[in-house]
Amino acid sequence: RIESVRLRTVLDSRGNPTVEADVHTESGGHGRAAAPSGASTGEYEAIELPAEEAVAAAREHAVPRLEGRAFAADQREVDQALHAADGTDDFSTIGANSAVAISMAAAKAGADVLGAPLYQHLGGAFRGRNYPVPLGNVIGGGEHAADATHIQEFLAAPVGAPNVRDAVFANAAVHETVGELLTERGTPAAKGDEGAWAPSISDAEAFELMAEAVDEVEDAFGFDIEFGLDVAGAELYDADEDAYVYGDTTRSTEEQVEYIADLVEEYGLVYVEDPLDEDDYEAFAELTDRVGDRTLVCGDDLFVTNTNRLQEGIERGAANSILVKPNQIGTLSDAFDAIELAVESSYTPVVSHRSGETEDATIAHLAVAADAPFIKTGTVGGERTAKLNELIRIADEAL
Ligand code: PGA
Ligand code: ZN
Repeated sequence: RIESVRLRTVLDSRGNPTVEADVHTESGGHGRAAAPSGASTGEYEAIELPAEEAVAAAREHAVPRLEGRAFAADQREVDQALHAADGTDDFSTIGANSAVAISMAAAKAGADVLGAPLYQHLGGAFRGRNYPVPLGNVIGGGEHAADATHIQEFLAAPVGAPNVRDAVFANAAVHETVGELLTERGTPAAKGDEGAWAPSISDAEAFELMAEAVDEVEDAFGFDIEFGLDVAGAELYDADEDAYVYGDTTRSTEEQVEYIADLVEEYGLVYVEDPLDEDDYEAFAELTDRVGDRTLVCGDDLFVTNTNRLQEGIERGAANSILVKPNQIGTLSDAFDAIELAVESSYTPVVSHRSGETEDATIAHLAVAADAPFIKTGTVGGERTAKLNELIRIADEAL
């Protein structure tokens, strides 16, 4: 049984406070985890409270329901206790940040008690032999950097890599190559929140840079590397104008669908996340109809890891892939439910970090446990390499 749940606030990668949880069991097990935090958050995400408030609320409502009562190795029981303690459907009482930190810390304590690596505890005996392809953010802007590209993320996708280590290193090489190309062009850049280059260049130039860098690294590494996007369409969409605003250029919904379909064609994009607004299932369905046989159309802000929203998407043919962020929904059980529903419906799950992160590497284990074909967790920077290096260790059975 869980003996104690301690909560505190620690720093995240943006220097903001975030919730960290320590779960100790009566049998001596221990797990620690911290909540990440988004900047381009979806409107329908579970509620993140200010970190100190979330800690106070969880101490009052959730901790008494866990200590001496729940079993850390019974993840469903822990997560049901969190829901019961909160009493709302969006974790607005204790905060999704407290919920997810406790949920993940309990999972680690459960794994510790069982003496199993976390991915195996979460995935079971027959899971955990496949490794996700890392999608690496190389150039970015939007809400993650000032005065950079309108499209939020240009993501390297080393789909032909023979193993996860080579894939991770290929993404780092694409990142380095883009940095060199930017310097050669006389447009050296700082980095955005996720460690991607944040140059003040046009989106069209970013596409050319990505294509060039990916080709170069493909030659050097000898396997297929493609790229994709997180458009973060909800951030570009202006409801008053009913249009997507890219600085001086605006595109109607029809034009946006056309624009993305053309980009998929021209650059062979393997992945497009949130190409449209988070309320526009219909346009998502139209784009999926047009390019879904060639590329993953992924819903992040559209689905927010929520099975109700995913179910609606499935019924309407919107997207063919879902981004999975445990803190969008609040618990690991809910994140697993979203993955299961996705897989049943032939939607590809992509496990993901947030722009604000910590050293916590739980999502690396979640991706392996769930057999997710992709993980999006950056390219460089300690809070990103924490997950990437953990994947390398899992594949090396070095845990
Ligand atoms: P966020 O961005 O963590 O700032 O929401 C990541 C994403 O949109 O995928
Ligand atoms: Zn996104």
